[in-house]
Amino acid sequence: MARLIGLDVGTSSLKGLAIDESGALLGEAERVYAFATPRPGWAEQDPELWWQAAQAVLEQLDAQRADGIGLTGQMHGLVALGADDRPLRPAILWNDGRAQRECELIEERVGVARLLELSGNRALAGFTAPKLLWLAEHEPEIHARIRRVMLPKDYVRLRLCGEHVTDVSDASGTLLFDVAARRWSSELAQALEVDEAWLPVALESGAHSGDSPTGVPVAAGAGDQAAGALGVGVIDERGPASVVLGTSGVVFAARERYPAAPDGLLHAFCHAVPSVWHVMGVMLSAAGSLRWLHDALGGEPDFATLLLEAQRWPPGVEGLLFAPYLAGERTPYPDPDARGAFTGLSLRHDRGALVRAVLEGVAFGLRDCFDLVGAHGRAPTHARVSGGGSRGDLWLSILAAVLDLPLERTAVDAGAAYGAALLGGVAGGVFADTREAVAACVRTTTTVEPDPAQTRAYAQLRPSFVALYPALARLREQAG
Ligand code: XUL
Repeated sequence: MARLIGLDVGTSSLKGLAIDESGALLGEAERVYAFATPRPGWAEQDPELWWQAAQAVLEQLDAQRADGIGLTGQMHGLVALGADDRPLRPAILWNDGRAQRECELIEERVGVARLLELSGNRALAGFTAPKLLWLAEHEPEIHARIRRVMLPKDYVRLRLCGEHVTDVSDASGTLLFDVAARRWSSELAQALEVDEAWLPVALESGAHSGDSPTGVPVAAGAGDQAAGALGVGVIDERGPASVVLGTSGVVFAARERYPAAPDGLLHAFCHAVPSVWHVMGVMLSAAGSLRWLHDALGGEPDFATLLLEAQRWPPGVEGLLFAPYLAGERTPYPDPDARGAFTGLSLRHDRGALVRAVLEGVAFGLRDCFDLVGAHGRAPTHARVSGGGSRGDLWLSILAAVLDLPLERTAVDAGAAYGAALLGGVAGGVFADTREAVAACVRTTTTVEPDPAQTRAYAQLRPSFVALYPALARLREQAG
């Protein structure tokens, strides 16, 4: 029996799992760690925490007798290394907003159209290159000592195998990658004054990037979104899309050709499958909105009770709407200052009504992302769902009706680490390629079909939701 390990270097923990060649789970392990917020809007983490956690998880999963290891993790983080390959400072993470000014500078220097053409994306503060520019301006003595730039999961690989390697999907989130050509962009590196010698070798995700000290092959791996999509079998333009109801919400679709959208509202990255790209819309507060409400209500009752109370309300909750922009938004409104709201409250509304409005508001937000995906290429005809919010039936039935799309669950919903384990199997020769890995391991279980009456009701309600963001933005402007 094969033993394949997937490691996900996340923001709040490192998760690992072991599977066999049929995709069955053999074991799971996790080590939690914290990130620091030295100033409002900043997020940093000591790379040593990842390596400590990786060692403990690999040991618990018996990785020394594995056939392959795959790495995935939080994207976009900047790990700056000196000549001795040691971090020069804590890593600056994907959710750090300090480099807003540098984004404007990048778009000025490169031009928005050219940046989109080359990198598939607008400049976002969370991405890697703006952070490098920030370092040059604010910590020049550290910037002068940089010899290598790594992404979080690739730092773990460096400690595990001694190799400076990344993969094409994670490299796509740096703003230094020629996403169409699937290689580093000399033009972007020059424009942003980044020494190309700093950048790791970029391989396709299933490629063999090196060996662990006990000789286990380690795959190049993938960014957490690409690995998560692979893990639910989303690899073909003609196949299902992926909808993730995690803390953040994601709509993800595979593309046969480089898909940069001229408006830059969707991200365009390389997928973890050779010659496949993907587009992606990201909502910052999806299941995070429900957790916020649960916590704001005092942490009681539990989620199951809240969802039962929500079920008693009809679609539209008698005029109650929720704008899910609690942490700003990325898609379709790239607006870090966007904020949430309940509108249409009446004396009749109770706790269950608030919960149902949150479920519906998040579903409408995902529909906004989904429509952008359809507007920039083939509109998917079904989707695979994953993430904590997709486990209960109520939210899925609302989402299926709002998206007007059948939603499939998969047998194992273990997040990005599962996709990473599949890539480990490819690098270890257990599977010929990523497609074979998906065919061998990913199976669907139940499908939630959209209910026609609910679909009609939500289609009527949607224009009111769509009007919310502009109205809220106007209010913010007036309030100064
Ligand atoms: C992807 C993204 C997140 C991070 C953290 O663009 O920002 O998925 O990788 O999970």
